[in-house]
Amino acid sequence: MSQRIISGNGCIKELNSILRSIKSEKFMLVCDSSFPFLSIKNQICELDIPFVSFSEFTPNPIYEDVVKGVDLFQKANCDVIMAVGGGSTIDVAKCIKLYSKMDSSKNYLEQEYNDSGIPLIAIPTTAGTGSESTRYAVVYFKEQKQSITHESIIPNYVLLEPSVLKTLPVYQKKCTMLDALCQGIESWWSINSNDESKAYSKIAVESIIKYMDSYIYDNDELAAEKIMLAANYSGRAINITQTTAAHAMSYKLTSIYNLPHGHAVSICLPYIWRFMSDNTNLCVDPRGEKYLQNIFSDISRALCSNNPTEAIDNFTTMLKRMQIIAPNEVSKDDLHNLIKSVNPTRLKNNPVELNASAITLLYKKILSYGSDEERNKNDLA
Ligand SMILES: NC(=O)c1ccc[n+]([C@@H]2O[C@H](COP(=O)([O-])OP(=O)(O)OC[C@H]3O[C@@H](n4cnc5c(N)ncnc54)[C@H](O)[C@@H]3O)[C@@H](O)[C@H]2O)c1
Repeated sequence: MSQRIISGNGCIKELNSILRSIKSEKFMLVCDSSFPFLSIKNQICELDIPFVSFSEFTPNPIYEDVVKGVDLFQKANCDVIMAVGGGSTIDVAKCIKLYSKMDSSKNYLEQEYNDSGIPLIAIPTTAGTGSESTRYAVVYFKEQKQSITHESIIPNYVLLEPSVLKTLPVYQKKCTMLDALCQGIESWWSINSNDESKAYSKIAVESIIKYMDSYIYDNDELAAEKIMLAANYSGRAINITQTTAAHAMSYKLTSIYNLPHGHAVSICLPYIWRFMSDNTNLCVDPRGEKYLQNIFSDISRALCSNNPTEAIDNFTTMLKRMQIIAPNEVSKDDLHNLIKSVNPTRLKNNPVELNASAITLLYKKILSYGSDEERNKNDLA
């Protein structure tokens, strides 16, 4: 599906002409509680076309809230959806687009998906998920993560307006940027990677490493523009490959401990990488063990490190510096729920086989569970 991406400070001015070109008479603005504080709020509120807004959802949105959005879209007779927000907002908007012409008497998650044809405009206000360029949406139903995938939910128009990042709190800046970094890395080593996805990953990872400090600590404008673009590239990369084990192991951490998505993913990644680097003989990528070792070396270089061991150490040091730490007070029940939550389909994209014992061992290490001796046992006893 073709997508028009416009980027750079001031690109928000293009909105009126986009809405006119698609002949919108009334659009639905999907935004969250951060909208009133955004630098672009006035430009959106002063657009020539009338709109209704929908904000009744939370970060890591739940299915029931999406249904409320579908009802409003239909009742208000809108013809376009505009998402202004982070990954949660964009995912809600994607689902509203997908569900709005489906049978409302049945659960949308259980029906066949078709293109509703409703134009979708996405204006990300975090630099992280790259959701504005993926065919995925994530919602939670009965506390279980649901991955919705359909080509038609890739937004038709994307405006990457970096000035919106000015109001993003520092902790959210870190979490969302780390999500983009992990997406870039995971996509790079995914068994589904190809030359195009690897090129996107390389741009995303190198750019994040180069600009992260000035973006997070100095509020630098150029850095914000570069990180926003990098996040978009990381989205384009996972749109080809999907994510791997670090993402698969993160979702339950988010729901149990209420950890932002990027926080949860980034605390998993170094442990998984170390395990994979020590066990390349368990490589399941048909391109082979040597290929995977070379990929690990390429990723290490993009992280300004000489080899995977150094890169993993540097990644861990970076998390400590940003004060991104694992939850403490982890119960045995938590551990059990985490282990059984991991989606085997998502693990299939991982280049090294991770069986149940490996997952158990990894969660114990990520969460510093129990004594040193307990952590090295790969069962729950
Ligand atoms: N569809 C995909 O391809 C994809 C990919 C990765 C992640 N995701 C999903 O995206 C969600 C996470 O999205 P996210 O990390 O962008 O965060 P988010 O959308 O959940 O927002 C996090 C917080 O930041 C606030 N916020 C957002 N932009 C702001 C701004 N400019 N100024 C001030 N506050 C602002 C929000 O109000 C919210 O409180 C998760 O549900 C995750 O599963 C989707």
